[in-house]
Amino acid sequence: MSNYHIKNLEEYFQVYRKSVRNPEVFWEEIAEEHFVWRKKWNSVLNWNKEDARVTWFEGAQLNITENCIDRHLVVNADKTALIFEPNDPTEDYKTYTYKELSVAVNKMANVLKSKGIEKGDRVCIYLPMIPELTIALLACARIGAVHSVVFAGFSSSALASRINDSACKMVITSDGAYRGAKDIDLKSIVDEALISCDSVETCLVVERTKGNVNFVEGRDEWIAPLLDAASDDCPAEIMEAEDPLFILYTSGSTGKPKGMVHTCGGYMVYTAYTFKNVFQYQKGDVYWCTADIGWITGHSYIVYGPLANGATTLMFEGVPSYPSYDRFWDVVEKHKVNQFYTAPTAIRALAKQQVDYVEKHDLTSLKVLGTVGEPINEEAWHWYNDNIGKRKSPIVDTWWQTETGGMMLSPLAYITPTKPTFATLPIPGVQPALMDENGNEISGNSVEGRLCIKHPWPSMARTIWGNHERYKETYFSAYKDMYFTGDGALRDEVGYFRITGRVDDVIIVSGHNLGTAPIEDAINEHPAVAESAIVGFAHDVKGNALYGYVTLKDSGKSRKEENLRKEINQVITEHVGPIAKLDKIQFTNGLPKTRSGKIMRRILRKIANNEMDNLGDISTLLNPDCVEEIIEGRL
Ligand code: WTA
Repeated sequence: MSNYHIKNLEEYFQVYRKSVRNPEVFWEEIAEEHFVWRKKWNSVLNWNKEDARVTWFEGAQLNITENCIDRHLVVNADKTALIFEPNDPTEDYKTYTYKELSVAVNKMANVLKSKGIEKGDRVCIYLPMIPELTIALLACARIGAVHSVVFAGFSSSALASRINDSACKMVITSDGAYRGAKDIDLKSIVDEALISCDSVETCLVVERTKGNVNFVEGRDEWIAPLLDAASDDCPAEIMEAEDPLFILYTSGSTGKPKGMVHTCGGYMVYTAYTFKNVFQYQKGDVYWCTADIGWITGHSYIVYGPLANGATTLMFEGVPSYPSYDRFWDVVEKHKVNQFYTAPTAIRALAKQQVDYVEKHDLTSLKVLGTVGEPINEEAWHWYNDNIGKRKSPIVDTWWQTETGGMMLSPLAYITPTKPTFATLPIPGVQPALMDENGNEISGNSVEGRLCIKHPWPSMARTIWGNHERYKETYFSAYKDMYFTGDGALRDEVGYFRITGRVDDVIIVSGHNLGTAPIEDAINEHPAVAESAIVGFAHDVKGNALYGYVTLKDSGKSRKEENLRKEINQVITEHVGPIAKLDKIQFTNGLPKTRSGKIMRRILRKIANNEMDNLGDISTLLNPDCVEEIIEGRL
């Protein structure tokens, strides 16, 4: 029996049992059977629990682009690898066959090399969802450069801090970006960021919007003429399985973003395996994930997972509401999409529109629907199932994280019976555990706790760039020898998992993880602000929205509140990005604190969510009086 492709439930249970009994044998067989290696590994797994160091396939050599591109050229050179659907539906869409993708990637790889990029150098990619983004990732991988993609909605200071954290030598960007009716000036955001980034030697610019751009002599250059002149043959750099493939930043509970480091071998094996099994991708299918490649979902399930399987992957530049609310369904019909993978926040926004938007399109090509990024509520699940899947396409509710690299809990389409709002069962090789607050595992079913993973899996992030101590502390210190996810979960009577949400200071707004600390730090930059605290409150489209409690300095108290609110959101936009703007800002005379001076966000969260009847014991606070006042001033 091949372990690579699970075909029915009985097989899933068999494979799962095997994977838990002997994870190394299990992953070794998959790695051996389905991938191209330049050299085999010396050991499958090394796990140093003391230092939280994990390696998979140590000693092996490979290049992930040989698995994602070259090996398909033998029989599938003319198969479509990539479909690019532009923001404006009247602009022609583009396709790349595997051969054409190979040419584009090799050329770009040669351009990077000609600009002095070598194996191990970090390259920051700040691009909209255009083909050059996918090509740039693969070009880096081709020559062993470590890509660090920054979502093109982040502000210049967020971009600068990410560039500096990993000392990127190059930035790849575009003149501008189309997003719905908007035209965003990306290059000027990069220019501002680069004022404080000494490590950057070169900035390559893709032409997209033909807007005016400023060029800094000797640093900035259009990429097109360089690509034209470049050779389409760039030998793949031979990489160790444990060499870094990329860095991707995620929010944490302190101000500084965490640069999660993913490595070549294990990441490839795991993303390819999960893509194949969760979506049950069949030859010839057209697969579309609506995420941005600026997030892990795009890395693993637009680029690497699909291409490693020789799939056709679609990338979409625009937004679900442009030019109207039927854009997703229009694209599904136009490209006869078979697997469609999106986020609950998009589903909720579209479910609010008239159902005509859906009904005027032929969605019969759809076979599998997916969701990711935050818990999906029952109503959204049913709307998706009834209106998009017509109750025929299974919904795979995939739970995972930037840190996990690939899907961890998910139904396998047509195999695992689904249950609304449940991510159901673990992927083979994944050993979830629910823990109580005293560090004990909660056994049995119909229980709830903090979700941990007991045993390493191949695509786990290996470290935080430049800060292994923080990695150890964040993920491996709460529970002995286990990876702590930061999420709460329940296990129902049959053993199905449902994620209940974050248990730390990360708030998920429209599927984007936002740490409270960087937003509070931004607000506190405003000269009139003394102190602030951010919490999430339930929102019917975004899942969570942000509620800010702000204490003003005396100098701010005479100011108009409306103006201050605007200015505060402005500072947040500058420091973090528009996605972190606050929906509500309440001015207070004080924030509830413990006797050691820690802000009690739990109380503030309850007030924001109108759950005043169970605030718990507030008598132990340093300043219990302020709670009354905050309740009175609630927005
Ligand atoms: C949440 C996204 C419920 C969770 C791939 C996790 C989910 C965080 C689901 C990671 C899901 C992701 N159901 N919650 N299916 N998928 N989450 O790093 O809180 O952007 O810890 O990775 O999103 O977000 P990240």
